[in-house]
Amino acid sequence: MMISGKTRVLGTLALLLCSTAALADDDASASSRAAATVAKMTTDEQTILTHGIMPMALGDFGSGGPKFPDDAVPGAGYIYGIPRLNVPSLRETDASLGVAYIGGLRKDGATALPSGMAMASTWNPALIEAGGAMIGSEAKAKGFNVMLAGGTNLMRDPRNGRTFEYMGEDPLLAGTLAGAAIRGIQSNHIISTTKHFALNDYETARDFANIIVSDKNARESDLLAFEIAIEQGKPGSVMCAYNKINDHYACDNDYTLNKVLKGDWGWKGFVMSDWGAVHSPTTALNGLDQQSAWILDGKDYLGKILAENAAKDPAYAARVKDMNQRVLYAIYANKLDSDPAMKGGAIDFEAHGAVAQKVAEQGIVLLRNEGNILPLAASAKRITVIGGYADSGVLSGGGSSQVEGPGGPAVAIPLGGDGAFALFFSQAYQRSSPLKAMKALAPDTKFSFTRGDYITDAVIAAKKADVVVIFATQWSTEGVDLPDLSLPHGQDALIDAVASANPHTIVVLENGSPVLMPWLNKTAAVLESWFPGARGGQAIANILYGKVNPSGHLPGSFPASLDQLPRPALPGAETIEPDFQGKAHPGEALTIDYNIEGADIGYRWYARNHTKPLFPFGFGLSYTSFALSGLKVDAHNMTASFTVANTGSVAGDDVAQVYLTSAAGTAHERLVGFQRVSLAPGTKQSVTVKIDPRLLAEWNGTGWTVRGGQYSFALGTSAADLQPAIS
Ligand code: GLC
Repeated sequence: MMISGKTRVLGTLALLLCSTAALADDDASASSRAAATVAKMTTDEQTILTHGIMPMALGDFGSGGPKFPDDAVPGAGYIYGIPRLNVPSLRETDASLGVAYIGGLRKDGATALPSGMAMASTWNPALIEAGGAMIGSEAKAKGFNVMLAGGTNLMRDPRNGRTFEYMGEDPLLAGTLAGAAIRGIQSNHIISTTKHFALNDYETARDFANIIVSDKNARESDLLAFEIAIEQGKPGSVMCAYNKINDHYACDNDYTLNKVLKGDWGWKGFVMSDWGAVHSPTTALNGLDQQSAWILDGKDYLGKILAENAAKDPAYAARVKDMNQRVLYAIYANKLDSDPAMKGGAIDFEAHGAVAQKVAEQGIVLLRNEGNILPLAASAKRITVIGGYADSGVLSGGGSSQVEGPGGPAVAIPLGGDGAFALFFSQAYQRSSPLKAMKALAPDTKFSFTRGDYITDAVIAAKKADVVVIFATQWSTEGVDLPDLSLPHGQDALIDAVASANPHTIVVLENGSPVLMPWLNKTAAVLESWFPGARGGQAIANILYGKVNPSGHLPGSFPASLDQLPRPALPGAETIEPDFQGKAHPGEALTIDYNIEGADIGYRWYARNHTKPLFPFGFGLSYTSFALSGLKVDAHNMTASFTVANTGSVAGDDVAQVYLTSAAGTAHERLVGFQRVSLAPGTKQSVTVKIDPRLLAEWNGTGWTVRGGQYSFALGTSAADLQPAIS
């Protein structure tokens, strides 16, 4: 496709921004209502919405602040309302995967969606929106009206401890799906955040890591993901991150908060801090609108101190009004006042579990299936199941996003440590046993289970079986990065020994991040189930037995070795002791230069270095086969059209992906469009997807420019399996 001359592309694209008149009216009304309320505020009332407490009696963190208000719900945060002006209090819960369990503090449970990587593996915005609507309804039923969700950080390094929470390595995929999740959550008339703004792509040193990145590299990667998520999801709030960006804390950062978010993107909501991420009163001038859980910062920077500063400095006084305007805009735009959240709402856990199961089933990725050993025949007489607590449940990730169902986890392995947040620190398994689900689907099969603690008994059991299904787990958590990508606890050796003893070995991975697989070629099949959520066991069994045809596609590349990464040595690994809160490092410093890879994250890094990952971005197998053909790209309409055919014998879903492969004559790989398609065997479908011109453009310092010249595109079912467009 030829593009003539230089095309300036507006930052907020009409293509993506399809705001209708009705939306515009709501927006104007929320803005004008907010201004009217601000005008009525007394001086004292002006610093109520600008800071919050943490309504959890957690060690010495929760008890230091004022007595918890009657309408507070034990959870992450609480912002006092202003009854005189009918402004509701804000009751805040984590997070992107459902209402956080917080160690059972509320003695209730919630429906756990599968992890962000599982959600992203569905490539299905409509389903992720339904998932958001489900968890948002549970938050509201428990009395929360703010959900600290919308995790949108890109997988720059698969060792990031929170990779599991996020949506992979690509800005279009992550931004589109995070935007869908936010839309779903806010459809309940509660506020969702998007987080952690921005470039918070590591965990261990998150409290003090200084990310060095150029404006161009940030705009074309992490910031683009947030820009798309914010355009498509319209979150009421953005949560700024812990780390520094070019020497300034993300919550005290004029560049990201004032220039990019509020200036260039024209975003009208409010910026809340992460918990314990505020270090100075100047945050008020550099874009922060609300200090969360101020007790964690030690000082009430955006409460008492802000009031004092506003009384003597016009710059602070102006900002106080704007801070209130923004919080009130988010409240009114999401109807928190007119459709209030109330404790004690009913929750249909059966129906909600079905939503979680559907996400899990569509997010499970079939990575290997030698000799079509899968789907399992119900006739398999003897199956040995090994490891992963598969007789009890499925693994979930650690930290503030951890969700457990009613009754709590089936298995919880505390990791010890002290401090108020230790209760978040456990390897928890949700009550959904893959083994039980397999037995229900194959009542005539003789199953045996061994925990896999010892290779000896696992090998003995494997030799007796027709088929072995070995569950391998890699737990990861907020606050700590993974030291490498190997499977822990000797699982690699276990899998190698079992697969050597029985070639009909199927590996089911329950993991937060891409892992290395030294045993891969000895196995018959590999399923990537991530942290599969409240009904993960049933989902895994349905895929293993072919009740559901696997359709997940990887949202992040699986490296073949750590040497393939931009930073093979984990930043800070030699100098910084992992610590959940990252706070045990007074005076520590760590600079991480993202300009090494710049915006070439994941598949773009592999393309730039001509290296081959273990499994590429976008990869996923099926029990049927598909053919993609006839890609045509229309430069005028900015659309790509193609045909998908199911050439196999069973129904299934495919995820067709359209990639830019060269821009203005220079090699330049980037996902520019995708579409999930459901097809009966022997049928085909024509598909047209819109292309956002920003994905063809370069950031020029003040806007996007699409350079004139030849642009090439390709169609494929992964970043490594591409067929060029018909010229
Ligand atoms: C955490 C997390 C953030 C969470 C907040 C409240 O430290 O970084 O994602 O929403 O605190 O729990």
